[in-house]
Amino acid sequence: MRIGLVLFASALALGGCKKKNTEADKGSGAATATASGSGAATASGSGAATGSAAAPDAKLVERGQYLATLAGCVGCHTPLGPTGPDFSKAYAGGMKVTEEFGTWIGPNITPHPETGIGKWTDEQILAAIRDGKRPDGTMIKAIMPYPFYTGMTDDDGKALVAFLRSLPPIENKVEKGDIKLPDMPAPQVPRVDDTSDPVKHGQYLASLMHCAMCHTPMTPQGPDMSKMWAGGFEMKVPPEFGTGVLWSSNITSHPETGIGKWTEEDIIAAVKVGVRPDKTPILGPMALYVPLWSQMKDDDAKALAAFVKSIPPIEHKVPKSDFKPAGPPPGGGGAPPSAAP
Ligand code: HEC
Ligand code: HEC
Repeated sequence: MRIGLVLFASALALGGCKKKNTEADKGSGAATATASGSGAATASGSGAATGSAAAPDAKLVERGQYLATLAGCVGCHTPLGPTGPDFSKAYAGGMKVTEEFGTWIGPNITPHPETGIGKWTDEQILAAIRDGKRPDGTMIKAIMPYPFYTGMTDDDGKALVAFLRSLPPIENKVEKGDIKLPDMPAPQVPRVDDTSDPVKHGQYLASLMHCAMCHTPMTPQGPDMSKMWAGGFEMKVPPEFGTGVLWSSNITSHPETGIGKWTEEDIIAAVKVGVRPDKTPILGPMALYVPLWSQMKDDDAKALAAFVKSIPPIEHKVPKSDFKPAGPPPGGGGAPPSAAP
């Protein structure tokens, strides 16, 4: 059984197509920021209007927005239009991806009471994000990276929920997917973020950014945890997005088959800019995350890089991706809500 990322990656390969069009890429990044920014502004408007130091809940919402940006929520919970994500419906769900084991659809996670999660309590929202449990007791399918979000601290969880609540409620009824994947309990991990230790803090961030979800080889029995971080997850791309195959890279510190020779700056550039030390672009799903991850704070980016450098070497030669994005680039990712007439 393959995991949903195969086609999640495919859909996101759009990011790879847009890579050539840097302005469009920047545009969609800005749109993402604006789309979420306007949500934050709605909730914190009065606090900010006083001109004094931000009210505590404005700070909480800001922290939550940052966490959502790192965790990539908007990527799967925003519908794809003909030219990329439709940010006028940011977080309102409807991204639909068909895989060999069924179709998954990102639900509406805005506070709309009928079509979103407006009636869920804070605890229920947090249980969905960290434990993969819905209020009715059913499990969310693990396309949603809750197995990676599960270590989120209570404080960060509170902030993320406050941010989601601050979003404008968007009425958008999204049908349910029909993925046939077994229910998967979230692993038990301590919910701590030791910010005094860059490597530990970096590991915390790497979980939220779910690097290992893609950088671990997939077998019919599930991810091969003995090669965690060592890459080799084969990501197929439907022809409309491009041709060829993407292989996730070995990002362990192995000097020949991994990235052991890269500096921390090289790793930061890969995550925030989407380029390798030789300036070739990193294609596929990571390209779509770049507009989000480019907003990562310097200290956090350094901690992430310190953690990645600390991953023990695993010798695992991954084939070179031969993916070629389909051209011409599809253009911008849609206008941010604030730019609409
Ligand atoms: C890789 C894609 C992906 C990412 C990234 C992602 N989600 Fe999801 N999420 C999904 C999918 C798909 C479902 C529905 C799965 C199903 O049908 O069981 C879901 C379900 C949910 C649900 C349950 C909603 C409902 O009505 O059942 C919530 C809440 C949620 N996600 C919040 C988030 C938040 C918050 C983030 C960021 C921290 C996030 N998701 C990141 C794909 C994603
Ligand atoms: C959604 C899937 C996905 C996620 C999440 C993801 N990656 Fe990647 N990554 C890939 C794929 C696929 C490639 C190979 C792209 C190519 O061949 O152009 C890649 C390439 C890379 C490379 C280039 C390595 C090389 O040898 O060229 C680095 C470094 C990297 N990823 C680091 C990370 C880090 C750090 C994270 C978490 C912050 C992360 N990735 C999260 C899919 C992902």
